Amino acid sequence: MPSVHPVLRNLPEYPIVRVERAKRERLDADLAVFDFGTGDPLDPTPGFIQDALRDGVESVCRYPNPRGTPELRAAAAGYLQRRFGVELDPATQIASSRGSKEAIFHLPFAFLDVASGRDTVVFPTPGYTVYESGTRFCGGVAHGVALTPENDFLLEPWTLPREVRERIAILWVNYPHNPSGARAPRSYLESLTAFAREEGIVLCSDECYVDVFEGEAPISLLEFGTENLITLFSCSKRSGMTGYRSGFLAGDANLIETYSRLRPNLGVATPLFVERAATAAWSDDAHVSSRNAIFSQKRALFREFFDAEEIPYWGRDATFFLWFRVPGGEEGESYCRRLLDATGIVTIPGTYFGAGGEGLARVALVPPLEECRAAIALWREWAAS
Ligand SMILES: Cc1ncc(COP(=O)(O)O)c(C=O)c1O
Repeated sequence: MPSVHPVLRNLPEYPIVRVERAKRERLDADLAVFDFGTGDPLDPTPGFIQDALRDGVESVCRYPNPRGTPELRAAAAGYLQRRFGVELDPATQIASSRGSKEAIFHLPFAFLDVASGRDTVVFPTPGYTVYESGTRFCGGVAHGVALTPENDFLLEPWTLPREVRERIAILWVNYPHNPSGARAPRSYLESLTAFAREEGIVLCSDECYVDVFEGEAPISLLEFGTENLITLFSCSKRSGMTGYRSGFLAGDANLIETYSRLRPNLGVATPLFVERAATAAWSDDAHVSSRNAIFSQKRALFREFFDAEEIPYWGRDATFFLWFRVPGGEEGESYCRRLLDATGIVTIPGTYFGAGGEGLARVALVPPLEECRAAIALWREWAAS
């Protein structure tokens, strides 16, 4: 029998794959599907970004530099300056990534030192599952911390026992948070940076939803200095570029250098023509406001629906997720399945995002507005039946 990596052998199927399978069964049976599952919006990528991609193709397409083109890094620095008022050196404090997902998976390989006892990665749960899987494949200890409405979905590492704190190599935070949509207040983020510096921890801040909001703009951890900090940004959600695979890391020059030494070992970088599209995307903010205006309209429809149904929910003004309590104390998995079978509406059970998701589920505001209206009408009818 060929051997299999033990972490892979024991890993449950990637949760979204299960949702995709159930969806496919309906599509194959010619039944309607309203897909509020994966966070992959259907609103088109702005035309100027598509044009930059097409214009970026050269007659010879050579291996890209893993660090990213100087133009991409300059555009990223320009974005950080405009958006958060921070000045970073594009040569030493910014590195390109193939979207956040791969960087999240890879970072433990750069910073875990199992032999010296710095073997632990702390991450939010429920949360994006890759914080945990990257750690496990790397042989590290994955330590999830529960985020709940009671703690305002804030991960407070200073409350962990000293034995855990001493072993932390990487601390993950993700605000605005998937799946709860929670934001983090300034005072909390300030305490977090102080904690990471005192304890010598690499603070990794996944900020891929920082530009998806209404009302006041969420802040970045970069606003509190870069020491011990890596922030991850992505074109995926901000600019509707999930399939392009481009983002960047920004922060402490020493940490960026360590990651950059690891990076060429893990594969080749984002293709040049994609980086040209990403350069255009980071250089423009107007398209982000237009996309946010659409998300706000969709969010308003769901807010009205959940309020009318008296379903408690979170995610009122950031990310494109709504995180709701399943009515009647039912488990998320059975509720989402019944909803799908009866109406074709795809939602994701809370437990797919880890411990703490029990009795909850997530709606991603990805279908176009008209489909959101149609789906809500069906959901309302089903709830009343
Ligand atoms: C919290 C979070 N981080 C990272 C990602 C990965 O985004 P990408 O790799 O497309 O940049 C996602 C995608 O859904 C996410 O929800």
